[in-house]
Amino acid sequence: MLSRGTSIHLALWAVGSSFLAFLFINRVLLNSARRKFQDKNGCKPPQARFPLRDPILGFDLMLENFRLGRNKELLLGAQRRFEMMAANTYTSKLLGMPTIVTIEPENIKTVLSLRFKDFSLGNRDRAFGPLLGKGIFNTDGERWAHSRHMIRPNFTRDQVADIQAFERHIEWLFKAIPRDGSTVDLQELFFRFTIDSATEFLFGHSANSLRMINKGDADSEDACFATAFGIAQHDAVIRTRLGFLSSFRNDRKSNEAIRICHEYVDKFVDNAVRYRESHDLEKDAPGEKYVFLHELAKSTGNKRRLRDELLNVLLAGRDTTASLLSNMFFEIAKRPDIWAKLKAEVGELNGQIPTYEQLRNLKYLKWCMNESLRIHPVVPANSRLAIRDTVLPLGGGPDGKDPLFVRKGTLVAYILWAMHRRKDYFGEDVEVFRPERWETLRPSWEYLPFNGGPRICLGQQYALTEASYVTTRILQEFASIESRDPGPWQEAVTLTLASANGTKVALTPA
Ligand code: HEM
Repeated sequence: MLSRGTSIHLALWAVGSSFLAFLFINRVLLNSARRKFQDKNGCKPPQARFPLRDPILGFDLMLENFRLGRNKELLLGAQRRFEMMAANTYTSKLLGMPTIVTIEPENIKTVLSLRFKDFSLGNRDRAFGPLLGKGIFNTDGERWAHSRHMIRPNFTRDQVADIQAFERHIEWLFKAIPRDGSTVDLQELFFRFTIDSATEFLFGHSANSLRMINKGDADSEDACFATAFGIAQHDAVIRTRLGFLSSFRNDRKSNEAIRICHEYVDKFVDNAVRYRESHDLEKDAPGEKYVFLHELAKSTGNKRRLRDELLNVLLAGRDTTASLLSNMFFEIAKRPDIWAKLKAEVGELNGQIPTYEQLRNLKYLKWCMNESLRIHPVVPANSRLAIRDTVLPLGGGPDGKDPLFVRKGTLVAYILWAMHRRKDYFGEDVEVFRPERWETLRPSWEYLPFNGGPRICLGQQYALTEASYVTTRILQEFASIESRDPGPWQEAVTLTLASANGTKVALTPA
């Protein structure tokens, strides 16, 4: 007869060993299914594995990235790794997470388009959730599809062609540019310009941050929002870098900034919903200016939903366009030959404010924007998380030409900064800012500033219209530009990629 204690031990042992056996059998079955999957897809072992000193967590790589980041060489470092490995795709680890890093256009096309449903955004929701809630930029699956369906109609030609909406802020931009040859940081002005125009487009009310430079009412609600949005965005960047550790972040200043942003946007949302309840929204009032929020309020009266979507689109659209402008002007200011060609092209407008069609026909300006987005892609790297076992077409076998198995839970990172510098696609002089290369280039997935596939940027045309409008108006208003920054362009990677030292120039009036 067994004692009661022995019986309990035996029972526990039986349960424990059954559980272990279950796990073991499960693992064997999973491994066998995975082997079959790999055979079926012709997968080969990775061409290159990053030589980690800490193969479990990849801690050494993380420290190396911190060091590179401090020296403003994070992207350069990422590019050099591909050269060092002599491969366009390699495997690695990021805080213990298996990672595949690639600059193969075919792999990126597979992740973003052909096998779209095998991937998610990963950690983005955790990092951006406190500010953005749940909206188009940080959700996946059905929720994202619904957001996209709701937001997409707001980017039709008529909305992006509203040139007058930009002109209202140009006046204030010009007022902020000194005319006595003293130095100005255009980057700061471009960031103000884009928050002013984006808030007007989205909420129907501009944050008017450019006006505040001269008026100095930094305590106004609009000014507080513009500052708070910057702080809240920075918080999201830090959360992204912290990965799963971001759940423990609780920064008072950021929390307060997020509260200010929500309160500010809620005011417009409340008005829009009130308006929605008291008007027949199917009938547009004649002469009324287009407001994104009012259009959105036609599809939902859910206030939380409206706030979240507004903040999502503001975040996606504000720094990106400002960064494109500041990076491009950094290059142009150092190249009188490019400025002269742009002046000649814009001169054809005879000083008239350009129409949308005229802007689209400014070919050399388009090449300059393309080249800026090639050499300084404002979203320089991106990633997706495999949510099921899947496969990439390249990166396996001794020459990387065979398919590569992607285990569920692997992060696939793609580095546009490095891909846009592939000499096999863009020529030997990839480091040179040369707009003329766009005369013949017709790139496909090897050039991806606006992403591709079902999540391609919705604001691409809006951004290009805004950037070309601002550039054209500056070319009309000023005779010459001179760089006041003797150094080379240096990276500042935050939410987007801009020059670390701003865009310091002097402009001479025409
Ligand atoms: C030069 C300017 C811009 C660049 C380079 C750019 C680039 C991108 C990229 C790379 C993505 C994909 C992000 C991802 O899925 O990981 C994206 C998404 C998005 N962009 Fe832009 N963007 C720009 C301007 C804008 C503007 C001005 C707006 C709106 C006013 C905007 C709205 C969006 C939205 C809503 C998404 C999310 C689309 C989705 O997930 O379905 N973007 N953008």
